[in-house]
Amino acid sequence: MKILITAGPTREYIDPVRFITNRSSGKMGYAVAQAALERGCEVVLVTGPVALTPPEGVRVIRVESAAQMAEAVKREAATCDAVVMAAAVADYRPVKILEHKLKKTPGDMTLHLERTEDILASLGEMKKPGQVLVGFAAETDDLLENAKHKLERKNLDWIAANRVCDGFGADTNKVILLGREGRIVELPLESKAVVAKMILETIFGRQPE
Ligand code: CTP
Repeated sequence: MKILITAGPTREYIDPVRFITNRSSGKMGYAVAQAALERGCEVVLVTGPVALTPPEGVRVIRVESAAQMAEAVKREAATCDAVVMAAAVADYRPVKILEHKLKKTPGDMTLHLERTEDILASLGEMKKPGQVLVGFAAETDDLLENAKHKLERKNLDWIAANRVCDGFGADTNKVILLGREGRIVELPLESKAVVAKMILETIFGRQPE
């Protein structure tokens, strides 16, 4: 089985020295990559900038912006049996990346942002028969409703819902998996390594001992 995993934040540059990003550490995606390797999968990891060393044996593609991640993911997904999007992709980017460092001027300034591509929704539209698409939903409110909505809107097979306070930056996570056929599997609060293993076991079945 060949599996594509994304991890970490994206960076949307404003000028050569400034960018918009988020608090994603990449730990959940890297843990899924490690767990997939341990199941014997061929693993491709598309990663935003993080302070982690990828597990040995995965093919790593490093990206910065949402546009670069979209390009790599859409290309690689075409040959993968499953995709797990654990990356925290920016939803907006500056309309224009300034070539020169922005100088300050008196008064306020406004940054004009435009939407980035929803990579997972694009994958949902071009999904091959039999391909398994898994998203993450990090929410502060209405966890299950929001996650279910994303599962349906992006044509996913599974979504791993977690509260921002339970996962972002931490070494542990608390995830509820929602399946397209209505299955709800609540996983215990565990290390991201254990949660990653349980996510893959729930979706693809237990490995024979
Ligand atoms: N995602 C993506 N491309 C984006 C934004 C998100 O592929 N531009 C993916 C994430 O990797 C994650 C899932 O979509 O697997 C849900 O991401 P999330 O940020 O929770 O949801 P959004 O679709 O961005 O919705 P909202 O910001 O309204 O909560």
